[in-house]
Amino acid sequence: MHDRFQIAPSILAADFANLGDAVFQIADEIEMLHVDVMDGHFVPNISLGPPVIASLAKATDLYLDCHLMITDPLRYLEALKASGADGITAHIEAVPNPIPVLDEADALGLDVGLVVNPTTPVDAMMPYLDRLGMVLVMSVQPGFGGQSFIEASLPKVEAFRSAIEARGLATNVQIDGGITLDNAARARDAGANILVAGSSVFRANDPLATVRELNAIVRG
Ligand code: DX5
Ligand code: ZN
Repeated sequence: MHDRFQIAPSILAADFANLGDAVFQIADEIEMLHVDVMDGHFVPNISLGPPVIASLAKATDLYLDCHLMITDPLRYLEALKASGADGITAHIEAVPNPIPVLDEADALGLDVGLVVNPTTPVDAMMPYLDRLGMVLVMSVQPGFGGQSFIEASLPKVEAFRSAIEARGLATNVQIDGGITLDNAARARDAGANILVAGSSVFRANDPLATVRELNAIVRG
């Protein structure tokens, strides 16, 4: 991860039968891929896990940012590291005491962040900010791509950005869900520096041009 301001395309919206090609077509414009891991328990959907991450890690040098929508993240950190994950984010709703997850990620050499759902207040994560490489604010209910952006997520981004600045930290603020060419500037202005975009990139007529446009907005 070099560029502080960037788009992280979410492969959830890609055609999994042609995943390599979907990634290669935009790879020159990005540094990070957002990989949504769902267990059918923490969220109602099931997506992918370590075998797919291992294939991606073999196929590309992109940073693999693994968003764990799973009930027991601790149990999978070792397998995720072994598969080639670079960083993970765990939901504070799944691990109200995240210390064991943070400790294990540190021990394994995985970057670690925490995620808040739209209905969870930011306060739940504030005590851990100084241990996190990233905070992730969900701007849709987790579990599915292609949903509409929840505007009420922006004040949460602002709250994290202010707390991070007040404490003199370098923590990344990521926002995930419903990001489009129309709202990306607002997300950046609220204080997000990594914007996840699934459908708006991989379902676009021209994914490469769309990533370029989104990156220009985020870096604007
Ligand atoms: C939702 C996932 C998101 C999703 C975003 O549970 O965490 O990363 O892929 O997709 P879009 O950009 O389509 O909302
Ligand atoms: Zn995600």
